[in-house]
Amino acid sequence: MKSTPALQKVPPDLATLADHERHALQALDDNAAAYFCGGAADEITLRSNRAAWDRLELWPRVLRPLAGGHTRVQLLGRELAHPVMLAPVAYQRMAHPDGERATAFAAAALGAGMVLSTQASESLEDVAATVLPDPGRGPLWFQLYLQHDRGFTQTLVRRAEAAGYEALVLTVDAPTSGIRDREQRAAFRLPAGVHAVNLRGLAPPQPRPLAHGQSALFDDLLHHAATWADVEWLQSITRLPVLLKGVLHPADARQAASLNVAGLVVSNHGGRTLDTAPPTAAALPRIAHALQGCMPLLVDGGIRRGTDVLKAVALGATAVMVGRPYVHGLANAGAAGVAHVIRVLRDELEVAMALTGCAALADATPALIHPDWHLGEGDD
Ligand code: FNR
Ligand code: LAC
Repeated sequence: MKSTPALQKVPPDLATLADHERHALQALDDNAAAYFCGGAADEITLRSNRAAWDRLELWPRVLRPLAGGHTRVQLLGRELAHPVMLAPVAYQRMAHPDGERATAFAAAALGAGMVLSTQASESLEDVAATVLPDPGRGPLWFQLYLQHDRGFTQTLVRRAEAAGYEALVLTVDAPTSGIRDREQRAAFRLPAGVHAVNLRGLAPPQPRPLAHGQSALFDDLLHHAATWADVEWLQSITRLPVLLKGVLHPADARQAASLNVAGLVVSNHGGRTLDTAPPTAAALPRIAHALQGCMPLLVDGGIRRGTDVLKAVALGATAVMVGRPYVHGLANAGAAGVAHVIRVLRDELEVAMALTGCAALADATPALIHPDWHLGEGDD
């Protein structure tokens, strides 16, 4: 195990996640900023994710007893201190030399769950070793991209199991990357010393010979893309719960339920894959309605305030994930910056609960959202 990440100071003028974002744009070079902050194509979904949470109005109740309230939730057989988890984000050493270990250290200290990316820039074993000894830590999950070599994928799953990861999160919304114009304009490249270290030893796929008029995407790359059959294959080779990340359509959610997956992450990849996909705040209540509580739902994309977390819970999420905000924290102040971002969100969530009359997250139901904005049940 490597050493504990050094603690830096969070600049005192950073009060919100938006402050962290502004500050991080100074801390990151143009290359890293294009990767971490950008979205796909015209970045319409990137913006609409945020706008959709903003548009939802919380409809507060008053004079309810609040003493002894708390943010605890149950998720996959564990009690979490609060419902804020860290989404998988690749190549974190590009934001800070302490990379994913700093993120893991902060997540554990704040009781936040963490999902490590397949494309992490630190070894999955080192990251697990940073987190596992902390008794107050949140869940540690591994995000999986199925690789063209299914044998290699299986070995990766075995490594995650052996290292102590508690669930696999199969990302299903990126059979290919989105159109990344911002990265192209910045001539984005991974800097020296930043690699997908957990994929070392994976031989590149043998290119298929393309006949005239064939597509490099459809006739080569997408031969390796995951399908529903691969979800069943993954479930058959692991003892870990399998969640799917990147579901937006209720019909896909129902298909996932028919395969008994352990949970779903309602996500559009933070607006990095299909541009003009709907914002997750709009997809979440429709999926919650379709599934009627048969599995836990998580949601990510544009969550930047405690009020956003409360809205997500009200619309059916058990927990939320944030991606870019903690990378901004990491860029600004390493592990301390990540911890500060989680702390701010949790503190804001408590205030939002108190001001809406929720002593527990179970009190946050669709009735908390002004009826213009949700699939209306009654107001009472
Ligand atoms: C991601 N995301 C992502 N998702 C995933 O399943 N595997 C991955 O390796 C990555 N990598 C990645 C890199 C960067 C730079 C970003 C910004 C995002 C998507 C991520 O898990 C999450 O869905 C979004 O980041 C959520 O949106 P917000 O919170 O960033 O708005
Ligand atoms: C991304 C990939 C790694 O969003 O998921 O950059």
